Amino acid sequence: MISYSTGNSLMQISVFGIGYVGAVSAACLANDGHNVIAVDPNPQKVEPLNAGISPIVEPGLEELIQGGIRSKRLKATNDVREAVQGSDLSFICVGTPSRTNGSLDTGYVTAAAEQIGAAIREKNSFHSIVMRSTILPGTMESVVLPTLERTSGRQAGVGFGIAYYPEFLRESTAIADYYDPGAIIFGKHDQATIDRLLDLHRIFKIEPKVVSIRTAEAVKYTNNAWHALKISFANEVGNICKAAGIDGHAVMDVLCSDTRLNISKAYLKPGFAFGGSCLPKDLRALRFAARKLEVPTPILDATMEANEEQLKRAYSMVAATGKRRIGLIGLSFKPETDDLRESPLVELAERLFGRGYDIRIYDPNIQVSKLTGANLHFVRSHLPHLTSLLTANIDEVIEHAEVFVLGNRAESQRLMRHVDDGRPLIDLVRIDQTRCSGDFYQGICW
Ligand SMILES: NC(=O)c1ccc[n+]([C@@H]2O[C@H](COP(=O)([O-])OP(=O)(O)OC[C@H]3O[C@@H](n4cnc5c(N)ncnc54)[C@H](O)[C@@H]3O)[C@@H](O)[C@H]2O)c1
Repeated sequence: MISYSTGNSLMQISVFGIGYVGAVSAACLANDGHNVIAVDPNPQKVEPLNAGISPIVEPGLEELIQGGIRSKRLKATNDVREAVQGSDLSFICVGTPSRTNGSLDTGYVTAAAEQIGAAIREKNSFHSIVMRSTILPGTMESVVLPTLERTSGRQAGVGFGIAYYPEFLRESTAIADYYDPGAIIFGKHDQATIDRLLDLHRIFKIEPKVVSIRTAEAVKYTNNAWHALKISFANEVGNICKAAGIDGHAVMDVLCSDTRLNISKAYLKPGFAFGGSCLPKDLRALRFAARKLEVPTPILDATMEANEEQLKRAYSMVAATGKRRIGLIGLSFKPETDDLRESPLVELAERLFGRGYDIRIYDPNIQVSKLTGANLHFVRSHLPHLTSLLTANIDEVIEHAEVFVLGNRAESQRLMRHVDDGRPLIDLVRIDQTRCSGDFYQGICW
């Protein structure tokens, strides 16, 4: 009979791996009042910790370790059985290094799961295993869970619990990051383990976000990729600015002061390619200016390449339906404007038209008879053929199409009534936040 212990804010915890993540987690958890057993096969990690010496260089850590040893709330061992028997919850903080080919080595994670699984075979109480190591999406499901089930002889969710809880600490500010995290994410498998984690995190100011295990695994990689991209972007700006006799720090400081468009959620929703009268033109000019200054711009170059890939992706999705009669909703570069200059929807329509697709287009803001100025000039010089495909009535598009491409939220409600008739709908703007690709509905990147 397995007994559960939750609701008790002081817990018995084991931490597997006394490295940068494990040592900080163990010391902070002990500092929060929990009883913590840190486990590592390496005596050079176990012995110093038990002697009150930090096994890593990290500001403030040694004091926390010494406090934990003094209060007897922290100890280290290499005995897995003792650690699992003496705790309700195990955090796995072992390394997940790169192999020489770049793939992720999950050997330490698998070994830790095997050892914990074997130890919980002999336990009568419900044990939770919480992964903190960085692992690729799907690893919990395909590696950790089956390993634990095989070695424990129990079923996940019934005989033991699991969760994925990515770690975001930064070395050198790890303790401050622990006590003031930017986000706390729990990847959920069973509620009992999530309840224990929620209990443990009551002391923090921010509300943990509970998501699926795969989402939590993906968040960790997306975070790190985002941080790396930000650093390289700032460096590239600095390089161009330096060559032009401008202080790149002054430029980036001002950029970062705009929390509405720059340091914000703006432009961070997966979707279709960018376009319009500014972004492509200005990126081209900046890259050209940098070339003249002999400054390489790999990030800016890749941005243009990535945009082209998104266009190709939309085209391929249409081609994959095997249908020829296309209904395109939206043509301007974004909703609520009639600006067609460098609209990726125009580019998509032209590619489809050029390959013989039979298109009808509806955009509530584009009525050829009402266009003026730069737009009229653009249409006359670039799009004479496309204007003949534009209709002022969405019903004509609905009647004509074997497949819909939705590039503008306008009229999406009316269109959505028709998607359920089985005709493929390719959504470039995510009209419905709850819907992901399946059957005839295809989101471009969801
Ligand atoms: N270092 C960071 O700043 C940081 C931040 C966030 C996430 N992470 C991730 O956290 C994980 C751990 O990183 P780290 O830098 O702490 O690694 P680390 O190499 O410093 O420490 C890993 C420890 O695990 C021990 N270990 C190996 N097998 C074990 C086992 N079976 N049982 C118990 N201990 C075992 C090793 O002896 C070592 O002491 C990695 O997946 C890493 O990507 C690291």
